[in-house]
Amino acid sequence: MKSQDELKQAAAAAAFAYVRERLDERSVIGIGTGSTANRFIDLLAGVRARVTATVASSEASAARLRGHGLPVFDLNVVDGIDIYVDGADEANAALQLIKGGGAALTREKIVAAVAREFVCIADESKFVPVLGGFPLPVEVIPMARSHVARELVKLGGNPVYRQGVTTDNGNIILDVYDFALPEPLETEAAINNIVGVVTNGIFAHRPADLLLLAGANGVRELRA
Ligand code: A5P
Repeated sequence: MKSQDELKQAAAAAAFAYVRERLDERSVIGIGTGSTANRFIDLLAGVRARVTATVASSEASAARLRGHGLPVFDLNVVDGIDIYVDGADEANAALQLIKGGGAALTREKIVAAVAREFVCIADESKFVPVLGGFPLPVEVIPMARSHVARELVKLGGNPVYRQGVTTDNGNIILDVYDFALPEPLETEAAINNIVGVVTNGIFAHRPADLLLLAGANGVRELRA
């Protein structure tokens, strides 16, 4: 039986093979955040001479990329992003995701929105029939914390302030527990409509295009 770490490595290796085949000197690669994305970054370092540009979804990933000598660009100075590789906290069969366990959801959502192709990498424990087992991260402007929490309760969730965490954008995170998401499109929009919310970790309006899901029998390629 493979460990979760081995499965994350297998998913990252599959994404690396996928990206390497498509890489040319004009490619801009979007880079995710978290332990699975870190493995992808480490693999990318092996072909650094062929990597012209990356855009990172967090300060942590940018630092890791630079540490490997990989070029990191501000999103505003590149023409686009060809392919974005990132992990997820949960994924369903429509390739809708919950993200933000590492508090990077807003920048991740921006990179996903810009990317022509979004490749999600995960071990099979993340694959669920209905999103919402994982507490939903919501990035909130600090002064709106109590207001947003009350509104999330009205939507049926149980928001908990993530103590000691400030996002790369200077905001706080509320994690919404006990919040099954049978209609991710509607809930993503409803939460984003609450004044004071920066964004929430449901990736339904911009799901992944390809999910590389690592399990005991290898890496499955799922498309919506
Ligand atoms: C970061 O904010 C998240 O969206 C990550 O992509 C997600 O938490 C997956 O992380 P792991 O790869 O560490 O499980």
